[in-house]
Amino acid sequence: MSALDYPELAELLDQVAAIRQQDQAGLEALRVALVGRKQGRLTDLFKTVPSKPVEQRRDFGAALNEVKQVLEAAFAEREAELARLPGQVAIDLTMPARRRWVGADHPVTKVIEEICQIFKELGFSIAIGPEAEDEWLNFFALNFPKDHPALDAHDTMYLEGGKAGGREGGRMLLRTHTSPVQIRVMQSGPPPYRVVIPGMVYRNDPFDASHAPGFAQLEGLAVDEGIGMVDLKATLYQFARRFFGGQTRVRFRPSYFPFTEPSGELDVECQVCGGTGCPACKGTGWMEILGCGMVHPNVLTNSGVDAERYSGWAFGMGPGRVAMNRYGLPDIRLLYSGDMRLLRQLGGDGA
Ligand code: PHE
Repeated sequence: MSALDYPELAELLDQVAAIRQQDQAGLEALRVALVGRKQGRLTDLFKTVPSKPVEQRRDFGAALNEVKQVLEAAFAEREAELARLPGQVAIDLTMPARRRWVGADHPVTKVIEEICQIFKELGFSIAIGPEAEDEWLNFFALNFPKDHPALDAHDTMYLEGGKAGGREGGRMLLRTHTSPVQIRVMQSGPPPYRVVIPGMVYRNDPFDASHAPGFAQLEGLAVDEGIGMVDLKATLYQFARRFFGGQTRVRFRPSYFPFTEPSGELDVECQVCGGTGCPACKGTGWMEILGCGMVHPNVLTNSGVDAERYSGWAFGMGPGRVAMNRYGLPDIRLLYSGDMRLLRQLGGDGA
């Protein structure tokens, strides 16, 4: 006997014509109804096999398998046919490939790396320190007097539950500058030291065109026997020539920091206008890039360095300032907005 001899199977075979006419959705529905594992008609029929008279079972079972194969072939055939029809194409070979995103360094990161590279060539190594720092290292080891007004400019976030470190001024805070790492470096072993220290610092500043509550700094420290002001000026001058170009003018101005004496600030000719005055330099022709000075003897002593024998200089630079001036950015927030359009213009996303 063949499948056609069983009325219920013959009826199933009639469905082949229906299968051939279905669209994608209809085909799925019919597949579930006919050959679905759970309640498809075919599954139901397989369940009836044990109740058939013994002599029919084998023949009916074989016929059932035959029907199953016919139906499955019909479904596969219609499926393939639909995939070839326009508008129903499963794989669109004309679709443009997805663009790959090529990551790149942030402008501030690039500036930091270039600065570090130049100092490496001048014989410096790189050091880093923690962003959560203790008050003693951030202020008092650096010769800030208690209640000195200089602390106001360094208002920051104090961290609850920080360990006291067993000494006065041991509360934990977000460091306001990278200078505490000077102390950490000097405590780590005997002089000489020649290091640059990049890192993030935090202040209770408004987020406006020229301030950010968190920004990058880059500290420099050189301590050895017989180091003087001339080494400081010559090194920074050399740095400026290498970073900004041989013709770039710089100027030193006197300044004040508790941890350096004497102290100064270094200005570099505005990179946007070349010194004639423009909005990027607020009409001055100069951009302030760093504070510097000779390391105060108290700071050496506080770090366990013999201030009679050794002397040194330090500086603290703002790579964000440098990046703003280099790229002519009017607002520091642009650097922290994460706006890909800006980063792309500055060569951030090579895609
Ligand atoms: N730490 C100072 C600041 O953040 C900068 C500085 C560093 C000045 C080292 C002198 C020497 O303003």
